[in-house]
Amino acid sequence: MPGMFEGGVEHSYYVPVQSPAGTYKVRIEPGLLGRLGSIQTPASTLHIIITDEHVKTLHGEALEKSFRDAGRRVLLAAFPAGEDHKTIATVSDLYDRILPSGLERSSLVIALGGGLVGDLGGFVAATLLRGVPFLQVPTTLLAMVDASVGGKTGVNHAVGKNLIGAFHQPREVMIDPAVLKTLPIAELRSGLAECIKHDIIRDAAGFAELENNITSALTLDVPYLSKLIAHNVTIKAAVVAADPYEHGERAHLNFGHTFGHAIETHSGYRYSHGQCVALGMVAASRLAAQLKMLDADSRDRVVALIAKAGLPTGGMDLPAKAVVDAMLFDKKVKDGRVRFILPDRIGHVVIRDDVPPELVASAVQSLRDRE
Ligand SMILES: NC(=O)c1ccc[n+]([C@@H]2O[C@H](COP(=O)([O-])OP(=O)(O)OC[C@H]3O[C@@H](n4cnc5c(N)ncnc54)[C@H](O)[C@@H]3O)[C@@H](O)[C@H]2O)c1
Ligand SMILES: [Zn+2]
Repeated sequence: MPGMFEGGVEHSYYVPVQSPAGTYKVRIEPGLLGRLGSIQTPASTLHIIITDEHVKTLHGEALEKSFRDAGRRVLLAAFPAGEDHKTIATVSDLYDRILPSGLERSSLVIALGGGLVGDLGGFVAATLLRGVPFLQVPTTLLAMVDASVGGKTGVNHAVGKNLIGAFHQPREVMIDPAVLKTLPIAELRSGLAECIKHDIIRDAAGFAELENNITSALTLDVPYLSKLIAHNVTIKAAVVAADPYEHGERAHLNFGHTFGHAIETHSGYRYSHGQCVALGMVAASRLAAQLKMLDADSRDRVVALIAKAGLPTGGMDLPAKAVVDAMLFDKKVKDGRVRFILPDRIGHVVIRDDVPPELVASAVQSLRDRE
């Protein structure tokens, strides 16, 4: 793993990310948003802040002001929040607002928001003038530890989610953990689901540390969050660096997601992504235990940590059969075989495509039980 390093400011870190387009840095620094206006860019550069209406009010206007106060040219372009607006129509509307403002190859797009803004803003940056530089400034825990690293950008289509897109690496990822103070607790928990996932697939010591300290994350202890984010970015960066275009081990990041996506689609998005991943990780761990790959103690620790994060471990009110059927239509299905990412211990996973269907069904069925 490339590792994480302490930065100059207290509780700050940086993590180098290797990508096919070169190495860039993820900076994690409390208070960074307030200092962003003074970043080093040529005086003539147009700064285009892309954000959603919600984040615009909470943090976007302050960021715009800090650029203006530093004498910089800035355009703040916001679109309505929510997956319904993660569309090519929104992208097209942004082109209409950005192109007449004197856009040049050296202009800088700043994607300020959750994973949705990062994906959509990154796609706008990837396609304007065949690619202009962009900064990821993630403001949800999920975007900080997951979506902002790896270079995937794009939008949804009526046929399915994230079907239109491009790989476009940011120039830098700037994370200010203090912005999480305005984030609804349910969104924080969704991000924690991905943190738990990262430790299960790669880091037993990280998992044990999270077991001891997850309350500090839930109570928004900023120094702890900074370290937690740096740790998770390190794991995501190592996985994507080893497999940038998703041919092999990047699939490990889908742990909990094979079951999770099926629950998500079948519930008509009534459950949040984080809740679905939580249920998916419970099902996958139980399945691994049934297959005698994972010991019962480790399985129980996974379930207990998910519960401690305030995420669901049972009580799913969907018919098990419908969820199992939905899994067969997941885009990750290869040659009609569902590939499961299953832990054989905490900190390590393997890919299995030979799981007996009746065990899959019973793992899904178990999610209907109240814990
Ligand atoms: N590119 C990738 O590798 C990748 C990985 C995972 C997810 N994603 C994408 O990310 C999206 C999900 O990301 P998300 O969960 O961050 O959702 P999101 O961007 O929709 O944000 C969730 C909500 O939180 C609000 N919000 C954002 N920051 C806030 C803050 N600091 N305070 C208060 N409210 C705030 C937003 O306005 C929104 O209403 C999906 O579109 C998904 O496809 C991409
Ligand atoms: Zn996820």
